[in-house]
Amino acid sequence: MKKSEYIWLDGELVEWDDANVSVMTHTLHYGTGVFEGMRARATDKGTSIQFLNEHVDRLYRSAEAYNLEIPFNKNVISNAIKEIVKVNKLKSAYIRPLVFFGDGEMGLLPKDIPVRVAIAAWEWGAYLGEDAGSQGVNVCISEWQRISPKSFKPFAKGVGGYMNSTLAKIDAVKEGFDDAIMLNDKGNVAEGSGQNIFMYKDNQLLTPPIETGALGGITRKTVLEIANYLEISVIEKDFTPTELLSSEEIFFTGTATEIVGVVSVDSSPIGDGSVGEITSKIRNKYLEIVNGQEDNFKNYITLI
Ligand SMILES: Cc1ncc(COP(=O)(O)O)c(C=O)c1O
Repeated sequence: MKKSEYIWLDGELVEWDDANVSVMTHTLHYGTGVFEGMRARATDKGTSIQFLNEHVDRLYRSAEAYNLEIPFNKNVISNAIKEIVKVNKLKSAYIRPLVFFGDGEMGLLPKDIPVRVAIAAWEWGAYLGEDAGSQGVNVCISEWQRISPKSFKPFAKGVGGYMNSTLAKIDAVKEGFDDAIMLNDKGNVAEGSGQNIFMYKDNQLLTPPIETGALGGITRKTVLEIANYLEISVIEKDFTPTELLSSEEIFFTGTATEIVGVVSVDSSPIGDGSVGEITSKIRNKYLEIVNGQEDNFKNYITLI
């Protein structure tokens, strides 16, 4: 990780190496936090944060879902996100707001424990590798089931739920794959370990509904809008791994991942085994939007 100079911690700018917490922090013991993954990019008009309001709204929704009361209003958090990119003089950045229970009492009930907020920003390139955009990625179907809405709140970005994603990612990489696709408790496709998923077949783009057990991805929502804009028919509908394997194209979506074609699943090529035409069209439009080159979507970027 390429360290920056400062981290925003509970309302103060603290030097990166001094932004530390007690080992008795509740969230370290029980996974009781929520977070966001965001990006800032160098656009023609200057460094801009993509989907700022959408990420801040989701951070508050996730916090509410897991009973954390953020001790700052949305305006303060939005300004802090802009500030942390600015003070670190970053032209482009990955931004990680984290809301967590600090220390005070032990035990599952987080009673009388302060809710704390950290926001870090640093330079971070393409999550699945610099070639992933052009070459696509090779994935497996994980043996690990995606966390169920009956035991977690998969729509919220909760720290503890990521142990499930980590199991899938570690096993996939151990077996030589780039990442994993996770199924839900009914055997339908849910999402990637840290990405939403789309498949394309017979002139139809499909993505599983959030209720299947996927995170309500901001890139996913943007892709639904891009598909409408490009007049590509798209629906939210469950599909099985067998349907997935017979698709013409598959792609992952996510802030860290961006939009990346999946060119094989469990070593079976998808389509002709290269990044598909629809995937490329949607990826290119997405990159235009987040780089501030698409006037019809310009509200999605905020100059810092
Ligand atoms: C499990 C999971 N699904 C999907 C996504 C994609 O969400 P977004 O597009 O908001 O980054 C992420 C990334 O944060 C994720 O961790």
